[in-house]
Formats: sequence, C-alpha cells, structure tokens
Amino acid sequence: MQEISIEVESLYKDHLAQIQRRYEKALESCQSSGVLIPSGSLKYAFLDDHSYPFKVNPHFKTWLPVEDNDESFILMRPGEKPLLLFNQPEDYWHQPASDPDDFWVEEWEIQSIRSLIDASNRIGDPRSLVFVGEETDLAREWGIGQINPQTFLSEVHYGRANKTDYELACLQIANNIAVQGHRAAEEAFRLGCSEFEIQHRYLAAIAHREKESPYSAIVGLNEHCAILHYQHYDRQAPTTTYSLLIDAGANKNGYAADITRTYATGNGLFRDLINAMNKQQLAIIDEIQPGLNYADLHEKMHLRLAGVLRDFQIVDMEEADMVESNLTFTFLPHGLGHLLGLQTHDVAGLQQSPRGDEKAAPEKYPALRLTRTIENRQVFTIEPGLYFIPMLLNKLRQSAHASQVNWQLIEELVPCGGIRIEDNIAMLEGRPINLTRNAFDG
Ligand code: GLY
Ligand code: MN
Ligand code: MN
Repeated sequence: MQEISIEVESLYKDHLAQIQRRYEKALESCQSSGVLIPSGSLKYAFLDDHSYPFKVNPHFKTWLPVEDNDESFILMRPGEKPLLLFNQPEDYWHQPASDPDDFWVEEWEIQSIRSLIDASNRIGDPRSLVFVGEETDLAREWGIGQINPQTFLSEVHYGRANKTDYELACLQIANNIAVQGHRAAEEAFRLGCSEFEIQHRYLAAIAHREKESPYSAIVGLNEHCAILHYQHYDRQAPTTTYSLLIDAGANKNGYAADITRTYATGNGLFRDLINAMNKQQLAIIDEIQPGLNYADLHEKMHLRLAGVLRDFQIVDMEEADMVESNLTFTFLPHGLGHLLGLQTHDVAGLQQSPRGDEKAAPEKYPALRLTRTIENRQVFTIEPGLYFIPMLLNKLRQSAHASQVNWQLIEELVPCGGIRIEDNIAMLEGRPINLTRNAFDG
C-alpha cells in the first residue's frame, strides 16, 4: 500500500499555481487578457419557483472548493492574484453565504458582490475576456470577447487528467469517506435491508446530503445488479436476497470517488464468481504502466473475463475466440473505466493532445470512455463487470454461439444479476496506486 499525502491545506497553494499556469497557457491561444468563470446559476423546474439542486461549474471548482454559491465569478488575469467575486445578495428568503474564511482565502483577492450587475461592473473591459461557463446569454449581454472557445477548453481539459498533489489528496480522502459508506452498506445488506434503507445508511455513514454525492448511488439487490445504471431504491426488501451491487461515491472539495462493490449472501457459485472477478480486477491493475493505451487494457480485461467464463464452465470456447467473436460483450457491455476527478466521468477521456484531437472508442466497445495513453498523475477507475442481462442473453441465445453456452448455469445466476468491482487508481512514479484499496485497508 503506497500512501498519498492527504494534507490538502498545505498542498493548495502549489495546486493553485499549477491551475493558474494551465489557464494562462490556454489563454495564449485566444489572445485574451483574462478568463471569467461563473460558478453557475440556479435552474428552475418548469412552471415552478423551486430550483433543481445546484451543480457548480467544474471550471469554477478547479480553482477553489466552493460548491454551493451560485452567481459568483472567478476573474483570472495572467500574473495577477486571482479575483473571486463572491455572491452575497441581500435576501431574507435564503441565507446568504457568510464571508469565506477557509484555508484557501489568503491566496485570493475576494470582493463581495450583491448582484449580477455588481459583478459586471467589476470585470473591466469585457471584450478582452474569455468566458467559460453555461450562461452564454449573459456573456453575450455583457459583451464578453470569446465564449467557451474550443481551443481554450481543449487545452484546459487535456491537462485536467494529470492531477496535482492537492487533487490526489482530495481523491484519496473522497475514497476514505466513501469506504465508510460501503462498510455501512454491506452491514445493512447482511441485515436484510431494502435498497432504500441501504442507500440511507450509506448516506448517513458518509454524512452527505444526496445532492452532495458526485452521482446518484446505484444500489441494486438481486436481478437489479444487472441493470448498469439502476436508478430506483425499492422500499421493500426482496423475499430472498442473494446479492447486492452498490456503486456509490463521495465528494471531497469537489473531487469524486466512484466505487463499486458486489456482495453475495450465501456461499456458492455467485460468491465464487465475485472472488474470481476480484482476483482478475487486481491482476489487471497490476498490469497498468505508463505508455500503455487504456483501450488495450480494456481488451486485456475481456480476455481475463473470458478466462473466468471458461473456468466456471459458463462458456465452452477458447478465450481468444470469445473476445474475437465479441461474445464477452454480452457479459461486460460497458467500458473498463474512465478518468475521474472534478466530474465522475471526467472530461477529455478520448482526447489525445491539448489541441483536442480525439481517438474514438473501438467499434467493438462503443461505451469505452477512455482511449488515452496512461501517464503519471492520471486518475481513473478500473471497474470490470460480469453481468447476466436478460436482454443481451436473449440475443446470445439466438446467435451462432448459443450451443457453447451453459444455459442451465446462466439460469441459476440470473437472479443474482451481476458483478462489478470498481476501484480508483492514481498513477504515480510509474506505478498504479489503488486509492480505494488504500481506504479499505487503512
Ligand atoms: N458510477 C458510474 C460509473 O461507475 O461509471
Ligand atoms: Mn465509474
Ligand atoms: Mn461507479
């Protein structure tokens, strides 16, 4: 187990300097003198005066851990201390933000604003600025020079894959928090709780409101484990519980953990399969090294999966043939993983350079979100699965390979749904550091 420093406060200054350099470099291509980044605006439900949960602009939270203050702005001009226009409206319906006094404030010039007009009066010549945010109408109204220019975004997004020490610390802490939840969820599963109860015990253990989680947790019992992004929480536990798949994260300063575990109630075939997939997941992580393309790693995982299918006599076919004929896709129809950071599925997974050129996912594996070459300081997930998805199994049953499949065994496994084991990996000094196992073992 290699430890990652979790001293976020002492690492922040250096992080900010690196982020500033990244954005300054991106500005060079735009011939602009600064960048204006809004935190975002509240969005309202149709014909309603209630807003959806606020989700901060990821470009804003790259700079500082403020995630809950809409209509604030960052103004960065090269060579200057960054300016935060911090929204503190006069409002007796809501509680305005109090003056920030966290570890990051001394690196910033902070000005309080009461309104958007207030903000527009403090940005100087708008024509000289690049705007990076969703409020494009506002940017046009203010006369901002360039709005979300692609060259700028490509440069910044590409760099975001390589994490600063501060970001690695946040990601390790997010994993540490999420693992508390995973422990509570396993306990709830063993007690026979419903999906709804498991989800609430998870949230209580990580002390997050649902909207603070980086994504809605997937909590599936039995055949629901086979629904890749299962979105409900049944309030009633099944009469008999066989399995739990929980894909649930946590948030630290805007950085996401994204962890999946699968559990079985009884000893038997499904538990043995979980153990086999766990072994293969750890083995594929051991193969990770800089210079390897992630798409090749994905293909290697399919070969490993084919080995499991063969060892358990689920499919009677040479492993290479199973991969070649794409039979393994039936059992693993999603990608091996994705970049992780400010967003759960972080940007630029297909991008091959700061200029924005992309390498598409292989035709055979269209769901793969990551085709970059593995480099130091990248953080990504490794999340192989083995699912029994009735829709895909029906197709296999009608294919030329149907006779090589042990359908009796499959019928036995369908009620257990499927398996996913997902860890978060940081590449450091040429080696994969498993942030998730660090947390489980810590
Ligand atoms: N939680 C979604 C995923 O693992 O990609
Ligand atoms: Mn994931
Ligand atoms: Mn996940």
